[in-house]
Amino acid sequence: DWTTTNVVEEQVALIREQVGDKQVLCALSGGVDSAVAAALVHKAIGDQLTCVYVDHGLQRAGESEQIEKDFAAAVGIRLEAIDAEDQFLGALAGVTDPEQKRKIIGREFIRTFEATARKVDAERHIEFLVQGTLYPDVVESGGGAGTANIKSHHNVGGLPDDLQFSLIEPLRTLFKDEVRELGLALGLPETMVYRHPFPGPGLAIRIIGEVTRERLDILRAADLIARTELTAAGLDRDIWQFPVVLLADVRSVGVQGDGRTYGHPVVLRPVSSEDAMTADWARLPYDVIERISTRITNEVDEINRVTLDVTSKPPGTIEWE
Ligand code: XMP
Repeated sequence: DWTTTNVVEEQVALIREQVGDKQVLCALSGGVDSAVAAALVHKAIGDQLTCVYVDHGLQRAGESEQIEKDFAAAVGIRLEAIDAEDQFLGALAGVTDPEQKRKIIGREFIRTFEATARKVDAERHIEFLVQGTLYPDVVESGGGAGTANIKSHHNVGGLPDDLQFSLIEPLRTLFKDEVRELGLALGLPETMVYRHPFPGPGLAIRIIGEVTRERLDILRAADLIARTELTAAGLDRDIWQFPVVLLADVRSVGVQGDGRTYGHPVVLRPVSSEDAMTADWARLPYDVIERISTRITNEVDEINRVTLDVTSKPPGTIEWE
């Protein structure tokens, strides 16, 4: 029968058997899946695991610190954290098209991960790569059930032929809620375990217009207020996602104190969903929306207007880009 203790013990034994005394690499994204997969593998083989975290500078407030300190350092995982903010922002300079942003971020990520994997591989020969693949991903890609931990060579995320590793996928029989339970059992922070889905390209696709450091800081401040108030109201586990979107190329007139302002609007996009394929705008209580709006306009100088997105998916997508 399914208990977290059984799953942990079973996976730890399987991983030890599969890995032996070889070395293992794992990329952390900040999401719950890669963190739980890494924590499981670390429990099984300890220092034979090296994790890589590419900090692209497009994360929300506090997230890089959470990965580096609250997770990796707290668990005792060896971490290669790469500060690649300048590189990503340089590559994104002048770019406004959403698909261009995604392509550039994907390319820079692979470049950085590859260089880091190469460095770690030169230090201690790497045989395995951990992936946080879940059961629904396995079914979707036609892999079928009951094939957990079968050694297979994949061309992972576009890595070159001379840098191919065998895969370890300790979550491939599990659903999301089971992964969360496992995360809690493994001692991961609740904020990480219950984190809303967050897109790989991060805040870059929540800034409508060019991505700059200044705009990222503005959005991070507004986003933190929205998340904080949602959590304070006890509602963060009731909704699927809560993007805050900065309309960086739009300005509107406002008034504050005895002065006229000419600032930017943000859009609140709280949604309810089961699987992100369809979604509805979340009916957050007005008093929560009011607190978020008041705090954002009071505390974030550049923002003088807060709007609410009331579009379902379809026709709207969850993200604005
Ligand atoms: P949309 O906006 O298409 O989003 O309704 C559906 C879900 O996917 C997430 N999303 C992404 N995730 N890379 C990702 O890893 C992306 O480029 C990307 N775009 C959207 C989005 O946050 C939502 O959960």
